[in-house]
Amino acid sequence: MSRAAEVNDKYQLFNPQAYLQNNYTHPRANFDSEDCVVPWKLRCLASSFSAGEIHGQTLLDIGSGPTLYQVISACDFFKKIVMSDYLEVNREQLRKWLQREAGAFNWSPYVKYVCGLEGKSDCWEEKEQRLRETIKEVWHCDIMQPNPLHPRVLDPVDAISTTFCLESVCPDKESLERALGNITSLLKAGGFLLMIGALDQSYYLAGEARLSVVPVDEDYVKQIVVKSGYRICVFKTYNMPADLEIGVDDVRAVFYLQAQKI
Ligand SMILES: C[S@@+](CC[C@H](N)C(=O)[O-])C[C@H]1O[C@@H](n2cnc3c(N)ncnc32)[C@H](O)[C@@H]1O
Repeated sequence: MSRAAEVNDKYQLFNPQAYLQNNYTHPRANFDSEDCVVPWKLRCLASSFSAGEIHGQTLLDIGSGPTLYQVISACDFFKKIVMSDYLEVNREQLRKWLQREAGAFNWSPYVKYVCGLEGKSDCWEEKEQRLRETIKEVWHCDIMQPNPLHPRVLDPVDAISTTFCLESVCPDKESLERALGNITSLLKAGGFLLMIGALDQSYYLAGEARLSVVPVDEDYVKQIVVKSGYRICVFKTYNMPADLEIGVDDVRAVFYLQAQKI
């Protein structure tokens, strides 16, 4: 079995509920603490969009998993958002939220927090509705394929977001660089890449699944992004505090990157 096939095999045990519980509830999602990792991620994204440069017809989110916090700020700047993931269980989680089904994860505290950052705390329900309307598609994707959306073909998009995907899916640095190239082929020249990822991490848990992560550092991330044909506009690092080391992974830090395809 190839190493990519081994990774795919392990992902069959990925449990979306456990993953959401580990990473997107208290203590990692504590909106009373500015120093907490989830509010930090939302502030990074909000700050990129509020600068006004990132907008257009379509934003594609790659490796969405069961989460959509990563596109909350984006919904006011794009006509259409396409979410995508390798696993049907994750795509199903997203559809549940879109269709307001029972058992969907509650993203409302996230939407409220983002509205608070925009000084529009009272308008969170309208924003949640806009988010539901703007996410038009939830597609299969495989970043190991030259066209990650195969067999679908999408005109090059204005922006791509991808969070904790590349390093969590690729068996080694060589395939990670290839996957970044595959994703980049879906983006217009002049379009923006928004990426959040783990630094110096080797594994994470999602229920029964123990997934390997390629450990990467800041310099390596910057180097491969430049090598893939981008100009880096923003790079920020968040060091994981000891009280958020809760035994579900061994992440040292998280990076946020905004880059423009040349
Ligand atoms: C660590 S999770 C990240 C989820 C989410 N983006 C977040 O910010 O928490 C990695 C995701 O990559 C997805 N994945 C696994 N293999 C993949 C592949 N070959 N192509 C694209 N996504 C893949 C998994 O299903 C999982 O949802």
